Amino acid sequence: MNSDQNRRYNILVVDDEMVIRDVLEDFLSSEGYNVASVSNGKEALEELEEEHYDALLSDLMMPSMTGIELIKRVKEIGYQIVTVIMTGYGTIETAVQAMKIGADDYILKPFKMDEVLQVLERSFRSQGLILENINLKETVNLYEISETIASSQDVVTILNQIIESSHKEISSDFICLHMFDGVMHPQMEKERYKNSENHKGQFQLDLPSIQRKVKNEGFLLAQKEVAQDYFESSVYAPNSLIAIPIKVSNLSLGMLLAISFSKKVFFREGHRKFLSILATKAASSLENYRLIEELQEANRELLEANRIIRENFRQTILGFARAIEQNDPYTRGHSDRVSEYSRLIAEVMGLGTQFIEDITFAGQLHDIGKIGISPQKLNKAGKLNAPEIRMFRRHPEMGKRILEPIPFMRHLIPGVYCHHEKYDGSGYPQGLKEEDIPLMGRIISVADTYDAMTSDRSYRKALSSKVAIDELVRNSGTQFDPEIVEAFLNTIGKRIDI
Ligand SMILES: [Fe+2]
Repeated sequence: MNSDQNRRYNILVVDDEMVIRDVLEDFLSSEGYNVASVSNGKEALEELEEEHYDALLSDLMMPSMTGIELIKRVKEIGYQIVTVIMTGYGTIETAVQAMKIGADDYILKPFKMDEVLQVLERSFRSQGLILENINLKETVNLYEISETIASSQDVVTILNQIIESSHKEISSDFICLHMFDGVMHPQMEKERYKNSENHKGQFQLDLPSIQRKVKNEGFLLAQKEVAQDYFESSVYAPNSLIAIPIKVSNLSLGMLLAISFSKKVFFREGHRKFLSILATKAASSLENYRLIEELQEANRELLEANRIIRENFRQTILGFARAIEQNDPYTRGHSDRVSEYSRLIAEVMGLGTQFIEDITFAGQLHDIGKIGISPQKLNKAGKLNAPEIRMFRRHPEMGKRILEPIPFMRHLIPGVYCHHEKYDGSGYPQGLKEEDIPLMGRIISVADTYDAMTSDRSYRKALSSKVAIDELVRNSGTQFDPEIVEAFLNTIGKRIDI
């Protein structure tokens, strides 16, 4: 009785005696095997080229090629096939020799049919053990592959590794990771050929049919003519075709698909299991990739939205700062000039790109707190009275309060809040001294005072650059940080024709 009800084994009988061929063919067919027979070794090799066989039942003594020579050749080619030698009593030593070169068993002639069955079933069982060993080897390799995958970070490397390993382990002529339409996937090499010169461009798969089969039945494992049905065209006849879905939560993202054109490589259940495990790994890599991509995309959108909000806010605040100046013909353009002088001072002091950018903006905003002072008071000719001075002196504090609620402008507050502090501690609003005054405040203070002196005011005419610079130098160390006055002289001072 055939030991595996789910599988009809293919048996090739090789014997130069027609009666033996006929009797074995009839009997083994009646036992559920698929049987074919040929009369010599040469024909046997040709048949094996064409068709997959699970067992070769060969006579020992045949003209032109002996059973031993045939089995030797079969082993050299590498067919995974059970080989049994049939021999008469007189040649038992030769039968032992056949076993030595790799035959699985032998049958002594004349044989009883039961013996043939027993030998075949025993051989299939031991072949099963050999295949199990192959599976074990695959498991070990799988462990190594998993290790490599675990040490890789990016999805492209992982997927390439999966394709490479699958290709190597199952000895496919072609393997690919085919992603279904609409699935986001990374840019990677998705196919491998064992011999691209022979096979590349030589076949066209019927991918929709394969996809349907894989989606409906969970996988596709087809041999020979059945496999051929999944090709639109092919120069070479396929021997084996396997396709495994790559699934995430019941959603098929794509499939891992392998082809063997070689008669030696016949995909079986072990290969399916092996590829299924790798397909699961590919699926989790692709899912991670999708999640990361989505996260990055969401992050990009958020960053862009944030950038737009910041820019709008920046322009609005800048608009307020300019609006204050628009009311005062004497101070129009003042903030832009203070910003420019501050930038030049920061540059000559080598204060770094970020600080330079910040102080350029802080310079433009330094008097934003004046927004609450009436234009009449701001532009008043003549001296301010005590309450007016108090009100005027509140503008750094007001500026600080305007910027405080805006997270991405808070770092500009030192420039706005402290630009009226004096180096000797006699300034306002806090009366800070020397290094206690933030650097941004100390720089804007110099830039602001210079521009105020060199601009017309309602209560006086502009001073010349030379007089203004002399005034800065005179107050260096008392009103101003000497280092900053020095920096000012090294930039703006050098540009001005004194
Ligand atoms: Fe000011």
